[in-house]
Amino acid sequence: MSNLPYIVGNWKMNGVRAMLAEARSIDRAASRYNKVQVALAPPATLIHRLQEAVENIGVGGQDCRAEESGAFTGDIAAPMLKDAGADFVIVGHSERRAGYGETDEMVRAKAEAALEAGLTVIVCVGETEAERDSGNAEAVVTRQVAGSVPQTKNAADRLSIAYEPVWAIGTGRVPSVADVGSMHCAIRKQLQDIYAKKAAAIRILYGGSVKAENAQELLGAENVGGALVGGASLLADSFIAIVDAASPAKAE
Ligand code: 13P
Repeated sequence: MSNLPYIVGNWKMNGVRAMLAEARSIDRAASRYNKVQVALAPPATLIHRLQEAVENIGVGGQDCRAEESGAFTGDIAAPMLKDAGADFVIVGHSERRAGYGETDEMVRAKAEAALEAGLTVIVCVGETEAERDSGNAEAVVTRQVAGSVPQTKNAADRLSIAYEPVWAIGTGRVPSVADVGSMHCAIRKQLQDIYAKKAAAIRILYGGSVKAENAQELLGAENVGGALVGGASLLADSFIAIVDAASPAKAE
């Protein structure tokens, strides 16, 4: 997979057709940044339309079910996302782990189904505030990585990880750059244990209250290969400011 900085907007449960105008603005602006890989994960209802509206950015789903089809009312299978025009999917977001009881095992099955369907995958991990306060953040997160990442052949080639501390999501609070760096190094080490040399190519994104103002600093932390952005990805101006901060020309 590419080694460009990867900036992904997760729109969560936000967006109706009127939001396509914002996606077009993001797409136009992204064309000026050929050293950054930009993508959006809109609600599933917009994937097809958004994919038809853009040329320069990736389009993905926010979740998928592990099964290919069947009696699972309301759920979406990975091949359906692919058919709708998605090229990636986010799995294991903390809002799904907490809200729907998704376990590492389920997340891993989803990730493997996504790869099987021809999608790339972003596996999310992150500790709660209580886990950080009790000094267990690294143990929790590396255990999540070990249990949630796909183990199928060549999985590392189409995999990214997003480290999103639960307490930093939507709160305006972010870990220190040193804490982000040490967590990303611990994740890299865990990935090396699983994928050996292939782990080097896996981008580890940071997510949780990434904004224009803090993006450059967070993206500069060790082993940070991009960002998974929630609130600030809903408007072109704030999202593109983060893309701009990720541009290697900017970092020099
Ligand atoms: P915020 O950027 O709104 O904190 O959300 C982060 C997130 O959960 C992205 O997946």
